[in-house]
Amino acid sequence: MRQQYRFCSPRKILRPVLPVLLFALSFSLLAPPQTFGQNPAAVSLKTFHPNLELSDPAIEARVEELINKMTIEEKVGQLVQYSAGQPTGPGTGRTDYADMLAKGEIGGLFNIVTAKETNAFQHIAVERSRLHIPILFGLDVIHGFRTEFPIPLGISATWDPQLAERAARVAAREASATGIRWTFSPMLDLSRDPRWGRVAEGEGEDPFLVSAFARAFVRGYQGRRLNSAESILACAKHYVGYGAAEAGRDYNSTEISEHTLREYYLPPFRAAVDVGVGSIMSAFNSLNGVPASANAFTLKKILRQEWGFQGIVDSDWTSVGELMNHGIATDGATAARKAFQGGVDMDMVSSLYHDHLAHLVRLGAVSEADLNEDVRHVLRVKFALGLFENPYVDERKESLAMLLPEAVALSRDVAEHSFVLLKNDLLSKGSPLLPLSDDVKSVALIGPLADDANQMLGSWGALGNGRDVTTLHSALVKRLGDSRVHFAKGSEISTATDAQIKAAVDAAKNSEVAILALGENGPEMTGEAASRTHLDLPGRQEQLLEAVAATGKPVILIVFSGRPLILPWAVEHVPSILAAWFPGIQAGPALVRTLFGETSPTGKLSMTWPRSVGQIPIYYNALNTGRPTVQNDATPFPNGHDEKFVSRYLDESNLPQFPFGFGLTYTTLRYGATELNKSDLRIDWLKEGLTNTSSSAPTPLQASANITNTGSRAATETVQLYVRIEGTSVSEPVRSLRGFQQITIAPGETKRVVFSVQSEAFAFWNDQNVFGVEPARVTIWVAPDSASGTPAQVEIRNKAN
Ligand code: BGC
Repeated sequence: MRQQYRFCSPRKILRPVLPVLLFALSFSLLAPPQTFGQNPAAVSLKTFHPNLELSDPAIEARVEELINKMTIEEKVGQLVQYSAGQPTGPGTGRTDYADMLAKGEIGGLFNIVTAKETNAFQHIAVERSRLHIPILFGLDVIHGFRTEFPIPLGISATWDPQLAERAARVAAREASATGIRWTFSPMLDLSRDPRWGRVAEGEGEDPFLVSAFARAFVRGYQGRRLNSAESILACAKHYVGYGAAEAGRDYNSTEISEHTLREYYLPPFRAAVDVGVGSIMSAFNSLNGVPASANAFTLKKILRQEWGFQGIVDSDWTSVGELMNHGIATDGATAARKAFQGGVDMDMVSSLYHDHLAHLVRLGAVSEADLNEDVRHVLRVKFALGLFENPYVDERKESLAMLLPEAVALSRDVAEHSFVLLKNDLLSKGSPLLPLSDDVKSVALIGPLADDANQMLGSWGALGNGRDVTTLHSALVKRLGDSRVHFAKGSEISTATDAQIKAAVDAAKNSEVAILALGENGPEMTGEAASRTHLDLPGRQEQLLEAVAATGKPVILIVFSGRPLILPWAVEHVPSILAAWFPGIQAGPALVRTLFGETSPTGKLSMTWPRSVGQIPIYYNALNTGRPTVQNDATPFPNGHDEKFVSRYLDESNLPQFPFGFGLTYTTLRYGATELNKSDLRIDWLKEGLTNTSSSAPTPLQASANITNTGSRAATETVQLYVRIEGTSVSEPVRSLRGFQQITIAPGETKRVVFSVQSEAFAFWNDQNVFGVEPARVTIWVAPDSASGTPAQVEIRNKAN
């Protein structure tokens, strides 16, 4: 099911927005191409969906009418936002929200989570303030509201944006029932460094994949119409470059060239804007020396002028105040002025707009026209959400919206699709350990994550409640009965006693097979302010794993984590490893169905899985360098100059443990050679393809491969299309994802997978920072992951050639 934006009468709408449309259209080719081919989530890149609700002339008229009545203080009030519930950052210490609301001094509140409370605050704003402007309530609804889904990194491992869209829709329905009409999601920061805890909140390292999920999340949250009572405003965050925090330390500085910004970090945000995201959050980090929350280049030039964004730019939590820590302001008034002039509309929590902005306008330090423009962004959204017509929610219906059976079923489905089978070796009997048979005599279930309900919610659990979670332990007992499950916790997450480890070893000795549920502390060690330098299993879990494996019993390791962990011993010695992320409320049933083969794993990594911390940052779409290793696996000490003076480590392979895009299933697949239907492409045709927005534009190239299921079980496979472009004005990566599609293949069956490769697949940001195509040699792979597949080549030639 594809969401469509409903278009109003084109005549009515086009006149005022035509300049914006034309302007935006001319930039609509900036984002990378979406999924090609048969994937039902495919949306043509050229489908341009400006948010017409944010440029509706009827709304604009109401906005202007209201602005004309507002005092400077009331205008500033619309730009002020506070947390009035459980804090998610350092607080302001304010408690006088009721008073401020009555005076029209607040535009938005967040972290309030019940209908009773949102209604209570809304009554004050609507009934007691002079202009009766409703409040916009927000919350970090990151991977579900009450029905918790897997963490976003897990959702992205599904490689199925439609699942993300449906999950976001469920979250929107539940959150809106409490009066929350704004979520600070999706996080679209590229994640190349797993030391950074927030990789758990994003969709991985690849701009193409993150963009596909960006569109899906925005569509899911915002629905067909923002003014549906069940729609919530999405917020693409953290704009921009936050994921490149140096050394993976949260909030750290970033240095990103304009080329790298445009080619890798910006496209997911552009994708969100293209499908009408209503808000953007400015990030904490400094970007090339200018804090992202005062960065006119990214917030004004790119976001507003180039992309025509019409919604709200919200600061991150106190990021306006933090301009002083960054050192670009030495007092609050200057910080407020710089954030405001840099393009931040709303000041989240720091209170500096409240304290200084009106005075700055009166002094003439900032213009009232600019103030009006920022207020317009906020009011426009409030009108579009229908808040003026329907400011309250029905408290009696709130609980009825939560945990509907279809929502819970979807949560299980998403979880099942998010698991990535990293390893499933054949045992001595000749078959792999997974899937388990129902005839298994007994299972030792070991580990701190086996029966900890709250952990399954990961970080940013919103209203997720451990009571709603079915753990692996309870699901396994349900399946096998109490007597066949020998449960021994074996360890806490960060500590263990010898007695705990011994009990686990005993449980394994008494069982046919051992399942170890190990990993990180979801709420504490993943997400915000959760950077780590040691990415191994915390505490004594590695020791526990090795002790259990030493019993000689076959071991299945389930890794619960918000990032790839460094597990070299396990990868060498443990026969079956499943990355489960933090799967949400249906963790247990989803895992048990997967373990027993009722469903087969289909997930693929959306982030490269490193071998050692020293390799980080590591990502598949890297540049080749001038001295690439001839053979990537340069583990042996270099033998002679040719092996030494290359881009390598002396003590570690360049290869990751598992590459981006990798994931096994319970069958085996054989990929045939990549075939192209042409060997030459004319550059003028490609150029035309970039600007021709009609869907009937001819497809420049078809890339295909035969894929055969050589095993005995059906498989759903995510087939990936990669390109390498050489001979161009800038270095392009050794591979870039340009498409993916999911197919199901029966045992013994061969399917031909065809990608229609559009012009955008050959385009990139050149040495002048212009997006386009150049004469080039292009290598193409139709592959199961970013490290395999057979190459095929095509030349892009000038017309004259
Ligand atoms: C985080 C944001 C979040 C905000 C509001 C900040 O600390 O960086 O991602 O949306 O708090 O909770």
